[in-house]
Amino acid sequence: MAPSSCFFTLLAFLFSALLFFLSRKSKSKSKTLKLPPGPPGWPVVGNLFQFASSGKPFFQYVDDLRRKYGPIFTLKMGTRTMIILSDAKLCHEALIERGALFASRPRENPTRNIFSCNKFTVNAAVHGPVWRSLRRNMVQNMLSSTRLKEFRSAREKAMDKLVSRLRAEAEANNGVVWVLKNARFAVFCILLAMCFGIEMDEETVDKMDQMMKAVLIVLDPRIDDYLPILSPFFSKQRNKALEVRKKQVDYVVQFIEKRRKMLQNPGSDKSAMSFSYLDTLFDLKVEGRKSGPSNAELVTLCSEFLNGGTDTTGTAIEWGIAQLIANPDVQSKLYEEIKSTVGDRKVEEQDVEKMAYLRAVGKELLRKHPPTYFSLTHAVTEPTTLAGYHIPTDVNVEIYLPAISEDPKLWTNPEKFDPDRFASGQEDADMTGVKGVKMMPFGVGRRICPGLGMATVHVHLMLARMVQEFEWSAYPPNSPLDFTGKLEFTVVMKNPLRALVKPRV
Ligand code: HEM
Repeated sequence: MAPSSCFFTLLAFLFSALLFFLSRKSKSKSKTLKLPPGPPGWPVVGNLFQFASSGKPFFQYVDDLRRKYGPIFTLKMGTRTMIILSDAKLCHEALIERGALFASRPRENPTRNIFSCNKFTVNAAVHGPVWRSLRRNMVQNMLSSTRLKEFRSAREKAMDKLVSRLRAEAEANNGVVWVLKNARFAVFCILLAMCFGIEMDEETVDKMDQMMKAVLIVLDPRIDDYLPILSPFFSKQRNKALEVRKKQVDYVVQFIEKRRKMLQNPGSDKSAMSFSYLDTLFDLKVEGRKSGPSNAELVTLCSEFLNGGTDTTGTAIEWGIAQLIANPDVQSKLYEEIKSTVGDRKVEEQDVEKMAYLRAVGKELLRKHPPTYFSLTHAVTEPTTLAGYHIPTDVNVEIYLPAISEDPKLWTNPEKFDPDRFASGQEDADMTGVKGVKMMPFGVGRRICPGLGMATVHVHLMLARMVQEFEWSAYPPNSPLDFTGKLEFTVVMKNPLRALVKPRV
């Protein structure tokens, strides 16, 4: 036998022995626990290969299983146990009534740990002092309504840029434009200005975007995240992740240093904004730590701010425009409301409070198409029970959002896109979940998305400007739209939306 085949035989033997040993260990541990029901799995790998061989996207696989196993069920993905909730009452109980208990995050995989600087972000931190410090800073110093108002000019600029980009693209392509790409760009510009407080040209914005995308790609889950025993076979991917991280830090630190210098020499850059998210981070006091964030940590926190709001909002706009095309009566009604509210001038964000129909469209859009189908993963701070089942501390608690916002027990004709359900006052929902959960595109409870207020402003403003400036219709003309979703970081349209636009004036 050649030495190499000897090696692989030995490896296979060791691997099988380990699998056997681990399966006995995990069985003896799970015997004492009454976990929610779920599809029977294989030793060690659990349901991992069943999922892989189903050929379905994960959200589809979960949607099928919840119909079979009910509102709380278990999936074993290798060494990860997931408990998946898909019922409004259970979510209310877990995240609102017993919110503190369900407010933590599970352990991260090694790649995510590199990019989150060992969970030094609002979204990844476990429930504790670091999370409290980072979240309080983001909410109070950056996303409060007073602070948000200070960035009105950044939003206006980005909206003007969006309209001129759409116009130029339409002129060059017989009236056809890409929707997601342009909406993402607009919201990214706003978030960049808020984050760094400095003006960036289009080329820099694009470069920064490519950087962020490269990060999201290496963060895509791999098989060794679920079966760490396989990690020796993924050293190439680990090195790639380290390389991307280094590039990200090197690139973003330039802007951090630029801003630092600007603060040291006030007035040195006339285009600089008076305030930015970075400013709040430079001197941030984090409970339990002596020093402020390092440069690498600042890069991580800025990336979180940019990533949290870009794809999510862009995705919402793509589905929104698709629904306005599929429902021309809704588009006309919205346009009439805009015209009667603002006349011939540009619609502005302070007009939104006078536009009940626009708000109804925005809410219906987030009900029918929550940009992420799962909330971020939760974990309990100590072992507990829910619906009579055990919830140990080391399981991933996942919430499948569309099951709630399309629950026929909570909504009339839930599959129909119908803003009138809200506009008429016949149905309503409190998106924070405090008064009861009926839809939760931003999550609910202690970990609710801190960007809810800002994201809502962006969605309303973008829809309003896009409909005020253009009449939207299908491309090719009169073709039916395909509302199938595809999982990227968010759930986007499987066939990215291209639409025909006709300038209104
Ligand atoms: C339409 C746009 C958005 C949607 C649909 C959305 C959705 C969500 C969801 C579902 C969660 C998880 C909540 C949970 O764990 O239960 C979340 C968390 C979070 N979002 Fe958003 N988000 C949006 C925009 C934004 C924006 C604009 C920002 C900030 C710039 C942001 C920053 C965050 C952060 C930091 C967290 C983690 C909160 C924590 O763990 O305490 N999001 N978001």
